[in-house]
Amino acid sequence: MRVQLLGISKRFGSVLANDDVSLDIGEGEVLALLGENGAGKSTLMKVLYGYHRADAGQILVDAREVAIASPRDAMAHGIGMVFQQFSLLPALSVLENLLLAYPGAPAWHSPRSTAPAVRLLAEFAPGVDPRRRVDSLSVGQKQQVELVKVLNLDARLVILDEPTSVLAPEEAQRLHEVVRRLARSGRSVVFITHKLEDVRACAHRVAVMRGGRLVDQCDARGVDGGQLVARMVGEAGLRPVRKLAAPRDEPARLSVRALRSSSETLSLEDIDLDIAPGEVLGIAGVSGNGQDLLADALTGMTPIDSGEVLLDGELLHGPDATRPHDPRQGYIPEYPLRNAVAGDMSNALNLSLRRLLGLPLFPRWGELDARAAQLMEQFDVRPRDAALASARLSGGNLQKLVIARELSQARRFVVACYPTMGLDLQATQAVYDALFAQAAEGAAVLWISEDLDDLLRYAHRIGVLYHGRLAAVLPAAQTDRVRLGHLMTHGAEA
Ligand SMILES: Nc1ncnc2c1ncn2[C@@H]1O[C@H](COP(=O)(O)OP(=O)(O)OP(=O)(O)O)[C@@H](O)[C@H]1O
Ligand SMILES: [Mg+2]
Repeated sequence: MRVQLLGISKRFGSVLANDDVSLDIGEGEVLALLGENGAGKSTLMKVLYGYHRADAGQILVDAREVAIASPRDAMAHGIGMVFQQFSLLPALSVLENLLLAYPGAPAWHSPRSTAPAVRLLAEFAPGVDPRRRVDSLSVGQKQQVELVKVLNLDARLVILDEPTSVLAPEEAQRLHEVVRRLARSGRSVVFITHKLEDVRACAHRVAVMRGGRLVDQCDARGVDGGQLVARMVGEAGLRPVRKLAAPRDEPARLSVRALRSSSETLSLEDIDLDIAPGEVLGIAGVSGNGQDLLADALTGMTPIDSGEVLLDGELLHGPDATRPHDPRQGYIPEYPLRNAVAGDMSNALNLSLRRLLGLPLFPRWGELDARAAQLMEQFDVRPRDAALASARLSGGNLQKLVIARELSQARRFVVACYPTMGLDLQATQAVYDALFAQAAEGAAVLWISEDLDDLLRYAHRIGVLYHGRLAAVLPAAQTDRVRLGHLMTHGAEA
C-alpha cells in the first residue's frame, strides 16, 4: 500500500503545526520521521490517523483520495498508529485486549476468532504469552502488544510515535527487528524518532521536519551520523555538553542510609549511598527495577518505611517526616504530564507551582507571568505562550517546562528521572547542561537513565538497580557497557 500526503496544513490557534507538508510512504518502506521538539511530526501523523482534521490538504491511498475523519476511517483504510501512552487494559489478558480492540467486538469469542491474533503475537511479539495479564508485562512487551493490536485490525501502514523513547537498549533492538519484519511482510512503517540508532537499524528513508514544514528527505542508507545530525539541527550543528569537573573532596552532600520503601509491585531494600558535592551519580537498570520508586523515596514523594535521607548531615526525609517541597531539592520525575504538571493549568502557573506554596495570599500575577516568559525563553520552551495550557505542549517542550521550573535556581540536591526522554538532540544537550550546571555549583545529582552511553560519558559513578537493590556502584571510568549490561540483567558481576 502506498500512502501520499499532499499539502497538509494544520493550525492550532496561533501555531501553524503543519505547513503545506507533502510526504510519500511506499509499500514495504520504513520512513524515519525526524525533527526537533514541536516540529509537527506527531500532528502530521495524527492527521493521517484521523485524530486531527487537517485545515487543508489531501490523503491518497494507492493513488486514490480518501476521506479520513476519525481513527476508525483510518483503520478502514489500513492505517494504524501506536501512541507513546499505551491504551491497554491492565487487568485483562493480552488476548482479551487484542479482541476488545475490534470496533463492535463481541463480548464472547470462539477459539476460531482468536487464531489470527495468536499468530500475529507469535510473529511480532515473540515470548509474550496470550494469556498473561497485561500489567505483568514489561514496557517493551506492552508496546509489542499495542503493535499487534493494530496489525490485528489489518493495518498495512503502521505509525510508531517515538516508540524507543521508553525502551531499554535491548528492547529497542528487539523492536528494530520487529520493524524490519513488518517491512519484509510488505507493510509500511512511519517511525518517529530522535535517535540515530533507530534510523541506522531499520529505516529506508529519512524525512526531517522543522517549524511545521518538511525541510529535507533522503535515503537512509547512504547517510552518516554527522550528516543526519546536521539535517536535524541545521547548519550551526550541536554544541558539545560542558565538561564536568571532578566532585569536590568534601563530606557527602547527600547520604542515604539503609533506606527501605515499597510500592504495590516492588520494594527498595537497603539502599546506601553517598553523593559528594558536585557529583553526578548515574543510575542504570532495566525499567521496572525500582527506578521511579527510588526517585520518589529520595525526594520524599512516597513514604519511607525505614532508613533516612540526609542533606549536609541533616535529616531531609525519614519514616516520620518528609519535606518534598524543600527548596534545596529539585525533582524531575518520570512522565511529567502525569507527575509534575497540571495539564489544564497555564504554563505560567505550572512554572510557579513550587513558589505558589510559599506565596503571599494575593500573589502578583504579573510577576509570575514575567518570570514565566523569562524561563520559557531561557529554556527554549516553544511556543513561548505563558497562558497556554501545559497539556498542549509537545512532549519535548513539556519536559523542558519541568526542567525550567526545577533547575532554574540553584539546588543542593537534584533527582532527575529519565530527564531527556523524548527530547531532540539540542534539547538533550540543554538539559544536560542545566543538570550538570547544578553539580558544578555544588549540588549532589542523582540521574536515572536508560542511555548507557550517556551515563558512561557524563556520570562520575554509576549505580545499577536490580530488583529494588543497588547491585553495584562503580566509577564510570572503570566500567563499560558490557559490565553494566550484565549487572542490569543478572544483578551481579559476571
Ligand atoms: N492539541 C493541540 N493544541 C494546541 N497546540 C498543539 C496541539 N498539539 C500540538 N500543538 C502544537 O503544535 C506544534 C507541533 O506539535 P507536535 O506535537 O506535532 O510536535 P512534535 O514534532 O511531535 O514534537 P515532539 O518531538 O516534542 O513530540 C507544537 O508547537 C505544539 O505545541
Ligand atoms: Mg511528538
